[in-house]
Amino acid sequence: MGSFNSFTSALGASLVLYASYKFLDTARLYLRPSGLHRYLYTDASGQSSWALVTGSTSGIGKCLAFELAGHGFNIVLHGRNPSKLETVRDELQAIYPNAEVRILVADASQCHRPEAVDFERIREELASLHLTVLINCAGSGASPSFGALETYARDTILDNLHLNAAFSMLLTATLLPVLRGQYKKAPEHVSNGNVAEFSAASRPRRPALIVNIGSVTDDGFPLVSFYSAGKAASHVLHKAMAREAALDGWADDVEIVSHRIGAVTGVSHTQAPPTLLRPEARTIAKAVLARTGCGRKSVVPYWPHALLQLFLGAIPEWMVDGMINTAMRRVRDEEAKKE
Ligand SMILES: NC(=O)c1ccc[n+]([C@@H]2O[C@H](COP(=O)([O-])OP(=O)(O)OC[C@H]3O[C@@H](n4cnc5c(N)ncnc54)[C@H](OP(=O)(O)O)[C@@H]3O)[C@@H](O)[C@H]2O)c1
Repeated sequence: MGSFNSFTSALGASLVLYASYKFLDTARLYLRPSGLHRYLYTDASGQSSWALVTGSTSGIGKCLAFELAGHGFNIVLHGRNPSKLETVRDELQAIYPNAEVRILVADASQCHRPEAVDFERIREELASLHLTVLINCAGSGASPSFGALETYARDTILDNLHLNAAFSMLLTATLLPVLRGQYKKAPEHVSNGNVAEFSAASRPRRPALIVNIGSVTDDGFPLVSFYSAGKAASHVLHKAMAREAALDGWADDVEIVSHRIGAVTGVSHTQAPPTLLRPEARTIAKAVLARTGCGRKSVVPYWPHALLQLFLGAIPEWMVDGMINTAMRRVRDEEAKKE
């Protein structure tokens, strides 16, 4: 009996210690100062840092672009609609007149067609900038928003996968040599699309940051199944790249973090009033940048979303399934009423 009591006391103490460690480790994640300043510096020619934010004509991407400009970065805005991009550029420069702004037009859903998105050209154009930050944010659900997989047309599914997964993969592969300072401009390199040509560093090593804006739906949400799958693919890609960086010894040069985000308002598909669990896009943008340098490959940047994920991770799977299905059924019904 005595040894059983000692065993249960030791087990209880270990559990308390483990829970305290987890709590403090999580608290540290949300209280530590941001490491964003590490990526804001001038290069040898005196050019200050540029950040490319994909999908920056609205919602979270637009807020990220404005936040980064507020921190002193020059900004490359990306989107598919030139006039929308010009409007955002004018808004941004009205608030941050010192920021330089460029525009990159590319329809991410067509990234598999070389005649539609020329990644070589994008690399050439951006290589002349002192690019230190890439934020892969372009993404969206399909239209109509909530439906069973078999109700969507083949092209809708493929376009959505290209937008949410393939574009960020191809863009990141395209720009990694630039971010690592390894890219040699033509005519030094003869391109056949093989990144192995960027073998020797042509510039001194410098720190760079790659951020993926993912979604908690990457766990497999019903009625947004292929969006959910696309977000999962992009999330896994960035985690795999972070491991490649460690494996090949350049993790100190390029920080790669995938952010898992819950519901957000102030975006193109909803302007509903904000709540604790559905914050404004600007709150999420600030949270994403605040987590820079957190030392994790994957993070839920906004702490109330993180608490909800912790809760869902602690309850049985059948309860999680029931909660997700109830929520998604309600969303589908609301959408149906609107139509
Ligand atoms: N809102 C949420 O609740 C939520 C939750 C989790 C994750 N996220 C993720 O956060 C990111 C931003 O979403 P958001 O809610 O801020 O949406 P948003 O307001 O609709 O912004 C999406 C951005 O992506 C651009 N985009 C859409 N399709 C494109 C295409 N084919 N080619 C190029 N750009 C395209 C949009 O350009 P246009 O202005 O031309 O449409 C816009 O700039 C997405 O990756 C989304 O998956 C959002």
